[in-house]
Amino acid sequence: MSQQFLPDNPLPQEVRVPDEMAVFSPEVEAEIDRHLAKYPLKRSAILPLMFIVQRERAGFLDPPGVAYLANRLGVRIMDIWEVATFYSMINTEPVGMYHLQICRTLSCKILGAGTITEHCTRRLGIKPGETTPDKIFSLSEVECLGSCGTAPMMQIGFDYYENLTTGKVDELIEKCRSGELSNGVR
Ligand code: FES
Repeated sequence: MSQQFLPDNPLPQEVRVPDEMAVFSPEVEAEIDRHLAKYPLKRSAILPLMFIVQRERAGFLDPPGVAYLANRLGVRIMDIWEVATFYSMINTEPVGMYHLQICRTLSCKILGAGTITEHCTRRLGIKPGETTPDKIFSLSEVECLGSCGTAPMMQIGFDYYENLTTGKVDELIEKCRSGELSNGVR
């Protein structure tokens, strides 16, 4: 693959793109074009494009999806990973259909995040960082999600669930199992 120096790359850095790259439908390409058109620098669209690629690649950024992003944004593979590993809403490994992300930062910690995590661990039979064998649930502990006033809280897909109690968690798990809750990731 040829090396490029792209004009909107501030350093400029060498860009190497692997051969195996994700391919998307014309509709998805058009959606990506609409996001790119909003920014003077292509790389500024990194987060909206990551959400689209994650959605289209079964809920996480796989290597072909990462290669696609690097190519489309004109950045290094490492630039993609640097952003992807910073944000907890971007998955770098496969996750279950419902990804329970429990905030573990100060307000949530003080108001019982540990109890919520332990309860989820017992109910789902998995520890933070794991996925159930049926691929329905993944469990994570994440840093502050900006909803400190309604602690303890968790994010599932794109939705927040706040003022959690173990009873509310049980209801949420049942809604996930019955398909009542949209997962938001895919
Ligand atoms: S401390 Fe949990 S949302 Fe901020």
